[in-house]
Amino acid sequence: MQLKIEILKILEANPETDISGQLLAEKFGVSRNAIWKAVRSLQAEGYRICAGQNRGYRLSAENDMLSAVAIADAIQHRTRGMAIYVRRTVDSTNDEAKRLLTEGKTGPALIVSEEQTAGRGRQGKTFYSPKQAGIYMTLSFPSALPLYAAVSVTTASAVAVFLAIRDLTGTETEIKWVNDLYLHGKKICGILTEAISDFESGRAQHIMIGIGINIWTEEFPDGLRETACALYPKGVTRNQLVARIVDRLLEVTANLGDGSYLDLYRRHSMVLGREVVYVRDGETYTGRAVDIDEDGGLIVEDAEGERTVLNSGEITLRPVLSETSPV
Ligand code: BTN
Repeated sequence: MQLKIEILKILEANPETDISGQLLAEKFGVSRNAIWKAVRSLQAEGYRICAGQNRGYRLSAENDMLSAVAIADAIQHRTRGMAIYVRRTVDSTNDEAKRLLTEGKTGPALIVSEEQTAGRGRQGKTFYSPKQAGIYMTLSFPSALPLYAAVSVTTASAVAVFLAIRDLTGTETEIKWVNDLYLHGKKICGILTEAISDFESGRAQHIMIGIGINIWTEEFPDGLRETACALYPKGVTRNQLVARIVDRLLEVTANLGDGSYLDLYRRHSMVLGREVVYVRDGETYTGRAVDIDEDGGLIVEDAEGERTVLNSGEITLRPVLSETSPV
């Protein structure tokens, strides 16, 4: 393994601790100069490593580079051999998950990337994924769920991310049907769940939950600037958040059958009680969102009291008019 990866592992295993260059040189049987060069190379990649004349090297608490070691360390669940892949760049972590499957790596896997060059959203949209500014991750695992039940993974994932963010930051986001998370009225997270299914058995053989969260994004491109924002978690690293999301996903998806996540979903929905606009068969309709059914469908009631269940698609929220709004 490359010297710099070995050094990184030691620094990550001893956060905020000075590790002497001499000690590292002896451990790896190289010169102190070789250690210094490897550290410089890590710093150039973005790792916050402090180096002092007589102190050695230490990974700063502010270091926020993604790391498989740090993620594995922070996951609390037993992950039963889940492979963790951290990439510097990929087209899309969901596509990377599919590539791993075609290479025969069919076990549970977590793929996280510092950036995506072709991040995908729902409905054929793109997901803006600039370098080191967000969490772009896919949890990929074999499944035996019937296809109809696999749909609930989408709804459950939104709850898992909601909980993970609240656990580590105390911030309560809002869930916009189907599975976007919003903060102060702007989107911070989108989820794209995909499955490889077997029509014969009617089961999802493999499920990929792709999650994108804007963490440190400072500038959004035109078209997103008005509708998206970032989380800016204080004192929390992306590695810790990724790990907590994995923990919450494993917990929520293990209990899909009891539907308990739906109560949380309803309680933190930004949609229920609001006027929504949706498109069905090319026609635009409006109605009031009144409930979420047991399968995660959105129940909408029109002015005549007639109810429709939306199982997929996009909705737009009608602005809330305050009492002082001009008519
Ligand atoms: C949406 O907002 O419509 C869903 C966005 C999902 C984005 C995530 S980022 C990680 C994973 N890889 C992708 O290409 N998309 C998902």
